[in-house]
Amino acid sequence: METKTLNNSTKAIEVAAKLLQSGEVVAFPTETVYGLGADATNDEAVKKVFVAKGRPSDNPLIMTVGAIEQLQPYVELTAQAKELMTVFWPGSLTIILPIKTGMVSMLVTGGLETAAVRMPANQVTRQMIRLAGVPIVGPSANTSGKPSPTTAAHVKHDMAGKIAAIVDDGPTQVGVESTVVDLTAKRPTILRTGAVSQGDLEQVLKTEVIDATSQKALPADQVPKAPGMKYRHYAPDKEVVMFDPLDWQDLQRVLTTSDAVMAEDALLMGIDARKQASWSLGTGLEQASENLFAGLRYFDDQSVIKRIYVESMPDMGIGKAYNNRLGKASGGRLFQGLDSE
Ligand code: TXA
Ligand code: MG
Repeated sequence: METKTLNNSTKAIEVAAKLLQSGEVVAFPTETVYGLGADATNDEAVKKVFVAKGRPSDNPLIMTVGAIEQLQPYVELTAQAKELMTVFWPGSLTIILPIKTGMVSMLVTGGLETAAVRMPANQVTRQMIRLAGVPIVGPSANTSGKPSPTTAAHVKHDMAGKIAAIVDDGPTQVGVESTVVDLTAKRPTILRTGAVSQGDLEQVLKTEVIDATSQKALPADQVPKAPGMKYRHYAPDKEVVMFDPLDWQDLQRVLTTSDAVMAEDALLMGIDARKQASWSLGTGLEQASENLFAGLRYFDDQSVIKRIYVESMPDMGIGKAYNNRLGKASGGRLFQGLDSE
């Protein structure tokens, strides 16, 4: 199959919407990462997404919409859901809600009684979904297990020949996937960290929100998990090692030409870019999150590079999501400094 690249013009959006209506898979931009879209009400279309991604079929998909009304036939819009949607939609929050019995395909829910729903901030994509007239499934547009794509070129790298089209609307802004909050648990529970933080959610819901991704032990009645979190994620083929910026001096002394470094500008200033492969994470948490996956993907394709050292961030705000993705990509490997090596 030849994969078309579409731009963000009205004409192109119409073409994309038609492809979705005819059961084809179309990759689309969001503010977080690129997604793989298919008509969520068409099982044959949804199956194509699992095949293109190589994704285990018990891992449920997000129903992605262009307007809240598109969800009404499928899920219960609870009072808490409405509050969150008013404040955070369109935007980087995915909400798990009860489904209306029989209304959502088992392929989408993975057999659960709940569904994940999201309305992305990207206008081109919202327009495309409204035109298609159905919610679309929207997993990240990477091969299963690889870092999520933040540009159309990343999508092409993984999906060329496997899907009908890619809508290119430039690089994404947030760079890490949406926060997933489960409103069907006893208490609202974060299953995946993202740009919307625990504090942001608590402020709107005016109740305690559990973070199931944090290290702290959970009460026994509070162990829901996003099914997807059990799979290896975000991992390039190369060895990835986190480092604390406090260990930067030590790290510089052990770097070789087969190592790459991903760090903030303030650290990279000290090295010779002609001798040491490096990728700028920019400055601060937001820019680091935006640039993380692109750097991992870049070095994954450089055959001379065997190991990628990546700076860890303060565990606050979107830094939590950043450290969570980096933790998965590295399998928890941390540079120990020279004393203990
Ligand atoms: O930012 C995003 O959310 C991106 C963009 C493309 O919208 N999409 C995305 O989708 O990251 P995906 O499929 O890669 O991640 C969805 C996560 C998975 O971890 C999945 O297991 C979980 O949400 N999930 C989906 N439905 C669920 C449900 N009913 N209950 C619990 N977790 C669910
Ligand atoms: Mg994903």
